[in-house]
Amino acid sequence: MNEILTQDRRMRDIIQLAKTVARSKATILIQGDSGTGKELIANLIHENSSRSGRPFVAINCAAIPENLLESELFGYERGAFTGAVTAKSGKFELANGGTLLLDEISEMDFRLQAKLLRVIQEGEVDRIGGRKPSAVDVRIIATTNRSLSHCVQDGSFREDLFYRLNVVNLTIPPLRERVGDVELISAYLVEKYAKKNAKTIQGIAPEALSYLQSHRWPGNVRELENVIERAVITSQDAQLGIKDLFIERPEGDSSQLTQDLADSEKSWIPGRTLDDIERTVIIEALQYHQGNRTHTAKALGISIRTLRNKISDYKGLGIHL
Ligand SMILES: Nc1ncnc2c1ncn2[C@@H]1O[C@H](COP(=O)(O)OP(=O)(O)OP(=O)(O)O)[C@@H](O)[C@H]1O
Ligand SMILES: [Mg+2]
Repeated sequence: MNEILTQDRRMRDIIQLAKTVARSKATILIQGDSGTGKELIANLIHENSSRSGRPFVAINCAAIPENLLESELFGYERGAFTGAVTAKSGKFELANGGTLLLDEISEMDFRLQAKLLRVIQEGEVDRIGGRKPSAVDVRIIATTNRSLSHCVQDGSFREDLFYRLNVVNLTIPPLRERVGDVELISAYLVEKYAKKNAKTIQGIAPEALSYLQSHRWPGNVRELENVIERAVITSQDAQLGIKDLFIERPEGDSSQLTQDLADSEKSWIPGRTLDDIERTVIIEALQYHQGNRTHTAKALGISIRTLRNKISDYKGLGIHL
């Protein structure tokens, strides 16, 4: 399993909580935008549980059509439907004794949600066309990049299932709110891809790092990884510079969860301090004004001196603006 690199306090709290709850059988809901590391956290939970010697089975609820998802999850008996020439175990059975990761749970069809709830509540799974249910012992982890409570509000997700899944909630902050992590993870990735491509690259030039730290990263760590890999491969220099970084700057913001949370004006989520919020606001304002400190200070209603002091404080946190 890949190591989870972070120097962000909220992330550390999430990892700590994940390790603590791993030992229980509690169902866990991991929320976070695409590429923030939800699967890594799910893996961490499995590895830190008493189930680690048993299977970790993942299924993506968004990638599979409804009727296929049902038979993938619950299995079927021979002759259950046209084409069912042999019986097949479902993911629940395959994960028995271990962990079942239900990826992108918000995309699961409403009817299937009811069946899933039943299986979780009864601890028994009934193959399609089966005569009698069999007991399964599975820890469920669900992930979503939408706010599941919003899905409940708009009627696309069952409230009862939501409460079942949301016993423990881990909400992973987007990468742009973890600017310190951009530096840490980038450094690791430069080394990784330099090695892989047999290149000697000594890291990232300071202005290139600031550039990386000012990007919104809609694709989060996955996007960062692509950018660094490409930069390492194409770079001709001893250090990665701005000209090696090809970052697409999309018009809108595709990060659904952050959008959802913003919609409900949740600037505060558990674990977030006022300093964290202030820092995010300052970074966003600087980005908006393309690094122009005079305009940023004016827009925020603070003196340029205050802004300068804050920016220099952030340096101590590894954030170079
Ligand atoms: N903190 C981290 N340290 C190191 N690597 C990370 C970290 N977070 C994410 N990654 C890497 O980024 C990639 C995306 O992570 P992962 O698949 O866990 O994200 P996800 O939230 O499940 O994404 P999606 O919503 O698209 O399924 C993986 O290659 C993972 O190893
Ligand atoms: Mg994933």
